[in-house]
Amino acid sequence: MAVTQDELYATLDLDLSWSEAALPERVRTKHVHRVHPYHGKFIPQLVEILLGRYIEPGGHVLDPFAGSGTTLVQALESGYDATGVDIAAFNCLLMRVKTAPYDLAELGEELRDACARIDSLVPRRSRVPRRRYLRDWYAPQAAAELFAFRDLIPDYRHADVLRVVLSRAARSARRAAHFDLEAPREPQIGEYWCHKHRRTCRPVESAAGFLRRYTLDTLERIEEFARVRDVEREARVVHGDAREDALGGPFDGVLTSPPYPGLIDYHEQHRYAYELLGLDDRREREIGAAAFGTSLAAIEAYRAGIVAVLARAAAELRPGAPVLVVVNDRRDLYGEILARAGLRLEERLRRHVNRRTGRRAGEYYEDVLVARPA
Ligand SMILES: C[S@@+](CC[C@H](N)C(=O)[O-])C[C@H]1O[C@@H](n2cnc3c(N)ncnc32)[C@H](O)[C@@H]1O
Repeated sequence: MAVTQDELYATLDLDLSWSEAALPERVRTKHVHRVHPYHGKFIPQLVEILLGRYIEPGGHVLDPFAGSGTTLVQALESGYDATGVDIAAFNCLLMRVKTAPYDLAELGEELRDACARIDSLVPRRSRVPRRRYLRDWYAPQAAAELFAFRDLIPDYRHADVLRVVLSRAARSARRAAHFDLEAPREPQIGEYWCHKHRRTCRPVESAAGFLRRYTLDTLERIEEFARVRDVEREARVVHGDAREDALGGPFDGVLTSPPYPGLIDYHEQHRYAYELLGLDDRREREIGAAAFGTSLAAIEAYRAGIVAVLARAAAELRPGAPVLVVVNDRRDLYGEILARAGLRLEERLRRHVNRRTGRRAGEYYEDVLVARPA
């Protein structure tokens, strides 16, 4: 028998569940959280509450699956030090750009200068992309503009900020349907019916407008974050495999959302950045990547990977410190994972995840597992 809404809500932690009206997208992606889109992140408001509930202010937080750096950014805002580990080079670039301390006057001067030069980018006709991906996914004009902007980057001290701007513009300028920017499968050539805009749309021809807009937007977002971050606190980013590389403890808590088996390819979702920037591709070390599938062997490899990471993280915790894991455990894997990692589950909180985006909308819940070394 179906449960009533009251029964359903009685099982939820309502402090961790927000409606779209209470927490609109623009607030969930405030300041640097939106310097580049990232599919599969959690929201800073959830991190804020969990840090406040479970970890002493001023502590050092570890996120071994740090992704786009939501934990790190919120930690700096809430007055914690943070370390984030991720296997994907683009995610680490993004995290460094979000969390680095800046001389805002110098950053502003550089980004405005780069922006002014976009108008005079004269694409050279001869530069047809050599790489197949870039040839397939970009109109010739867009590719030429992206290459010309990339050529400017070494002129600036804040080159990494401009690399993120280039990547964001490259994402928007792909020949992808507007409603399918997260994981487009085939280049969209020619007009198409757009589910997002409810009209006929055309694939993008040029990248210059995106480059200009995102350069200034990134500056604004970094300035906005500078007004709320705690300048005494630091974030450290480790590009590595959390099963093996040094984590750099001791830590006062772990807060993380791990990858799920067979759901998202974290390198592939930012393929354009790897192609344009020549970033180190370590996709074969991604735990649970969609490309590995969901066979019994793949699920066991996933379990073993998460166990290894949590066990190593737990070994670097100060006595009594918590491990907080935000997960949609629909395969019921985490009871066993925690036990194998030497962790004792104290609480399993359930929250309702509000998913606004059209075609992926729907009822969706996730758990916050609160554990400590056994
Ligand atoms: C669910 S996402 C984390 C998202 C993050 N909470 C955020 O808000 O952006 C999981 C992350 O784990 C990373 N990952 C997968 N295998 C890894 C490994 N072996 N070591 C470190 N990170 C890994 C992926 O690259 C991905 O960014």
